[in-house]
Amino acid sequence: MNNDIDKNKQLRDLYDEVMLPNYAPANFIPVKASGSYVWDKNNKKFIDLGGGIAVTSLGHSNPELISALNEQSQKLWHLSNYIANEPAISLAKQLTDLTFADKVYFSNSGSEANEAAIKMARRYHHENRNDKNEIIAFNNSFHGRSLLNISLGASDNHRKGFGPLPKGILHANYNSLSSVKKLISDKTAAIIIEPVQGEAGVVPAEQEFLLGIRDLCTQNGIILIMDEVQSGIGRMGHLFGYMAFDIEPDILTSAKGLGGGIPIGATLTKDSIASVMSIGSHGSTFGGNPMACAVANKVIEIVSTPSFLSKIKEKEALLVNKLESLSQKYQAFSSIRSSGLWVGCELNNRGEVNKLLDRCYEHGLIAVSAGTSTLRFAPALNISEDEISEGIERLEKALSS
Ligand SMILES: Cc1ncc(COP(=O)(O)O)c(C=O)c1O
Repeated sequence: MNNDIDKNKQLRDLYDEVMLPNYAPANFIPVKASGSYVWDKNNKKFIDLGGGIAVTSLGHSNPELISALNEQSQKLWHLSNYIANEPAISLAKQLTDLTFADKVYFSNSGSEANEAAIKMARRYHHENRNDKNEIIAFNNSFHGRSLLNISLGASDNHRKGFGPLPKGILHANYNSLSSVKKLISDKTAAIIIEPVQGEAGVVPAEQEFLLGIRDLCTQNGIILIMDEVQSGIGRMGHLFGYMAFDIEPDILTSAKGLGGGIPIGATLTKDSIASVMSIGSHGSTFGGNPMACAVANKVIEIVSTPSFLSKIKEKEALLVNKLESLSQKYQAFSSIRSSGLWVGCELNNRGEVNKLLDRCYEHGLIAVSAGTSTLRFAPALNISEDEISEGIERLEKALSS
């Protein structure tokens, strides 16, 4: 056992020696994974209800994704944006067939997808010869870590020491239409919003609020950008979260679950906006990489089927039910919010989520946090009911220890 502990520790110590100290990772190092299970250097088995923060949408080492990747890796890895590739074209075709969008731009992450979205929105107004360039974002939102994205997010912690930041970004309160109205002017170019705020702790937008935002955008010539980096690709039980609200965005950003663990980002939009992005206006070396797109094609093929999506809601009900029973037994959570297989449990012990995560790890459960007081679950969408039960049993051990 002592030897075993050393295997994780040795590598974890090396991490501290050679990696930037911007994260505080767990004290074990996973070395292999399959489905909803992960094994560390000591061969200790964990059940993964965190999903790499809503990324491993079809579980670890999914055989269908491995074949898509292997097959593509034998054919073509990379060209450049001077030359198109087949997997990127078919992925764009799938995404446009299945959504409001006519056109797709590929990048490598959620931050880049949002960067492209904001550029498109500003460029659209510029080409239409008006002065609109201000962006309205929301308090407690999260859009990524580039300078633009930390300006869209409103976290002082994420911004501290990185200024000067891009200008022209205003913040309204989530679920308060009146606070949005106060910020709208003839300079407003776009509103960027998550349909459910993930990093804030899985906080859903109210239907009336989103409908109101859509109306305000339509009436005032404002572009509605939905950041679906975390909410998309089946997470909410719909291919994209906007589909649950009976509205359509003008631009949508996707990443995380789209590649099932392979880095890819996508920005989707209508022809009227896409047409302002003339040759050379934007680009990315790796965006549209054939291997990433081959995997994402398979992810979309699987996740978009109605039978797959309908099971997500059933599993949500099971997971939330079990969490509610546990919460009653241990007085653990003040509230449980969920949206598909995406759950935020607000701890009664405020500020203690990292301690609880450590106890979960001890008992072989991987979850993630949101802020300092929310325990978050975003498991693989194909997780089985038995695996959910097993995860909850481990959570019970963590809560009772
Ligand atoms: C809603 C949302 N947008 C954007 C991002 C940034 O994505 P990435 O870390 O891939 O840049 C995240 C990441 O957590 C996110 O949750």
